[in-house]
Amino acid sequence: MSLVELTQVSKVYRSLTGGDYVAVRDFSLDIRTGEFFCLLGTSGCGKTTVLNMVAGFEAVSSGNLRLGGKPIAGPAADRGVVFQGDDSLYGWLSAQGNVEFGLRMRGIARREREEKARHYLELVGLKGQEHKHPSELSGGMKQRIQIARVLANEPQMLLMDEPFAALDAHTRADMQRELKRICAATGKTVLFITHDIDEAIILADRIGVMHAGPASKLKGIVPVTLSDTERERTHDRFVEVYRQVHEMIRDEVAISLQRAH
Ligand SMILES: Nc1ncnc2c1ncn2[C@@H]1O[C@H](COP(=O)(O)OP(=O)(O)OP(=O)(O)O)[C@@H](O)[C@H]1O
Ligand SMILES: [Mg+2]
Repeated sequence: MSLVELTQVSKVYRSLTGGDYVAVRDFSLDIRTGEFFCLLGTSGCGKTTVLNMVAGFEAVSSGNLRLGGKPIAGPAADRGVVFQGDDSLYGWLSAQGNVEFGLRMRGIARREREEKARHYLELVGLKGQEHKHPSELSGGMKQRIQIARVLANEPQMLLMDEPFAALDAHTRADMQRELKRICAATGKTVLFITHDIDEAIILADRIGVMHAGPASKLKGIVPVTLSDTERERTHDRFVEVYRQVHEMIRDEVAISLQRAH
């Protein structure tokens, strides 16, 4: 069953100087309930645009966008968003306070929100760090708090825009493992944006590759049917999928570089 259905969706940005920019055109994609879908593409191809439409922050210019069969009218608590390059933690609140914040806004009683915050901080591997403030935590830890904060709201779907891009390789690998575990444990549907092919293969059930922009759409979808042990960079089957995705994206990188000059 599909949770999200994008059918021939186009997005046109009106520029301040009068011209229009067609970011995506006739973009179609179904994301299944419970699947981990990675969207891959060159810089500026429209990945964030697609995510923002699914999040409800941007309206579609034409086409159909549905969540659970209903048109998406705007942002709602059923979708939790981790933004690209996000550093939106409240510096004056502890890790616990940051995760509790959204719950407090929704009027959830103190005891329940304390328990939920603790539970999700533990889930992202931050047990014992609840009382620290963002300035006392590493980049990777802060990123985990952001994910805990989104999870604590218990959305049906996670929308993650390059959430690990700023992390060092080691923390990143840890977070990938952690996220996979959490999603498997909680049955979330995930739209995850990255331009790292390895990351996509480690995480995804399916990988969608976009054309270079403007007027981008999906070039193709690669299913990733690897077992956990096969999701190792050196495994033959991993390399096979890598080649497949790399071939799809290679030409788009060249086109995107050409257009930039
Ligand atoms: N609010 C906006 N107004 C005008 N143009 C925009 C706006 N947002 C995005 N664009 C343009 O739409 C295109 C797609 O942008 P988008 O942010 O979706 O790309 P992306 O694939 O997420 O890129 P990156 O990998 O660099 O994050 C770009 O050319 C960008 O300049
Ligand atoms: Mg982006």
